[in-house]
Amino acid sequence: MRLTRVPGLLFGGDYNPEQWPEEVWAEDVRLMAEAGVTMATVAVFSWSRLEPAQGVYDFGWLDRVLDLLHEHGVSADLATATATPPPWLVRAHPEVMPVDAHGVRLEFGSRQGYCPSSPIFREHTVRLATAIATRYAEHPALAMWHIGNEYADHTLECFCPESARHFRAWLQARYGTVGALNAAWGTSCWGQHYTGFEQIEPPRKAPGPVNPAQLLDWRRFCSDALLELFTAERDALREVTPAVPVTTNFMSILHGLDYWSWAAAEDLVSDDAYPDPADPESHVAVALSYDLMRSLKQRPWLLLESAPSAVSWREVNVPKPPGMMRLHSLQAVAHGADGVMFFQWRQAKYGPEKFHSALLPHGGTATRGWQDTLRLGADLRRLAEVAGTATRAEVALVLGWDSWWGLEAPESMPSNRLRLKELLLAWYAPLHARGIAVDLAPPDRDLSAYRVVIVPNLYLCTAQQAKALASVTGELVVGPFSGVVDESDQVHDGGAPGPLRELLGVAIDEFWPLADGVTQRVRHAGGDVGLARTWAEWPRVVGDAVEVLARYEGGDLDGLPATTRNGNATYLSCLLDDLTPVLDRVLHDVPALDVPLGVEATRRENHLFLLNHTSTPQQVALPQPGRDLLSETDLRGVITLAARDAVVLRIEGDT
Ligand code: GAL
Repeated sequence: MRLTRVPGLLFGGDYNPEQWPEEVWAEDVRLMAEAGVTMATVAVFSWSRLEPAQGVYDFGWLDRVLDLLHEHGVSADLATATATPPPWLVRAHPEVMPVDAHGVRLEFGSRQGYCPSSPIFREHTVRLATAIATRYAEHPALAMWHIGNEYADHTLECFCPESARHFRAWLQARYGTVGALNAAWGTSCWGQHYTGFEQIEPPRKAPGPVNPAQLLDWRRFCSDALLELFTAERDALREVTPAVPVTTNFMSILHGLDYWSWAAAEDLVSDDAYPDPADPESHVAVALSYDLMRSLKQRPWLLLESAPSAVSWREVNVPKPPGMMRLHSLQAVAHGADGVMFFQWRQAKYGPEKFHSALLPHGGTATRGWQDTLRLGADLRRLAEVAGTATRAEVALVLGWDSWWGLEAPESMPSNRLRLKELLLAWYAPLHARGIAVDLAPPDRDLSAYRVVIVPNLYLCTAQQAKALASVTGELVVGPFSGVVDESDQVHDGGAPGPLRELLGVAIDEFWPLADGVTQRVRHAGGDVGLARTWAEWPRVVGDAVEVLARYEGGDLDGLPATTRNGNATYLSCLLDDLTPVLDRVLHDVPALDVPLGVEATRRENHLFLLNHTSTPQQVALPQPGRDLLSETDLRGVITLAARDAVVLRIEGDT
């Protein structure tokens, strides 16, 4: 399936012509055409220029920009311009600005200055989106709609009275009665019994730890409140242009927003990814988030923003060395992206992002950056046939936001060291190193199509989710501290693993978090010794057919089962440094690609991507001969992949 009407892989970036005199625009579009740019994201922050006073529109400049783009073969990812409300709106209605947890209302002068629950802000965004859609519905450059920008980047939550009202309405819809809310929130603890919804407030700064069930609902509410803001604009656009796809740019694996529900509300998934060039392993974490993007709708997605070289918002903004921009771009395509776009087209002259890299650097066309832009444009054209192709994964990693929010609640957990992104990555990295494709999946989906399902952690697990896991027909692997609480963050009767007890055949008598720096030896059945760090448990076998795969050795847990297996379900009661023994056991039917460390191998139907993330040449044995679309040569046998180079092999026959 194609994401937009633009053929091939999309290439381009954010284009902010309003930051430049019109004379520059002609050069912009000429150079875009030269580089093979096919799409530009426009008007993301343009509200104050498009509507300088309430109801007074100035579309003239944007008309000319879109005409110019179209004349040069560039389509528009046209924004609804609502990412920054204009000063006139903020001054007329100061209550549209968000309020922080300490009760301080934030000031105008940056971006994303809005309260997600403000009816005034919402009304104005819908009005503007409708005006833009009406104006450009028939414009030939219009390829897709870009609503808002990176929701939750700066503003995830607001603690103002309007947000409080919205939160109460959300709670009322969820619980019906305050009695039901009291039961769910366990308000008998610490004397928090409410007698009316009007007594409930958002979790502002309180004297001590806030009720974790309240915090969990607050996280759910904040994701939903922003989603409502998004869908209000989406509905306005669909009314005018039902055939134009709608997206908003995600922020990789983001704690604040439940991307499963967000993705369901949009037509195509797009992502912004900024792996740190200073981190030699950043390509692994970013691959995980790319796989999430592909999994959200189980089809190709779009990399809507990435950095050509340095960003401007880290403590130290390291540039990308030669070859890395191309390699990272091809990596997104390797993981299912049907386009690679950047922030931004022309490097800014002023503002907080004047030192952020761009496709066209300050130094213009004489720079190495511009040469990279030209090269990538040409490469993406060579890969046009990859657009629309699917990835088939036999392994799924389970990720649920409710559970993530519960797990990382501040101030009330056995250990604050369990961070879901790290737990996911601990499983993902060895799979990635073996060239095994991985899907991400929500905990309540039918997972029977996968040969291996890995649940790194499912702290919050409902009876329904336990049922979905029980229906896994392949191998199921469940990590520690799972099945602990229900949807209201209340501990399951009998303790962990709650509804997973029968499936796993173990009960956890006590959590045994390990102090920082402490390790616990674990002896695997085959004799190998491993180390657990950060987390262990005191488990008890309760199933008749449970096999103990590894035991704790030494220390207080000496002799207790560390990993167990009950039928097809493996349980790990600790965090192991090395997961090889577990993976070797469960991956027996999953085809892997034998590649050197640092070389990434992925497939999209009959295209094999080989990416050398190291800074030295690597020898790779090709599983089949084929044609490299990048170098336009036929390859077979063992090839040498230069440092930071890539091959995209079209394999004939077997797909
Ligand atoms: C993104 C944002 C862009 C730009 C970019 C810089 O978070 O959507 O507008 O600020 O970062 O890296």
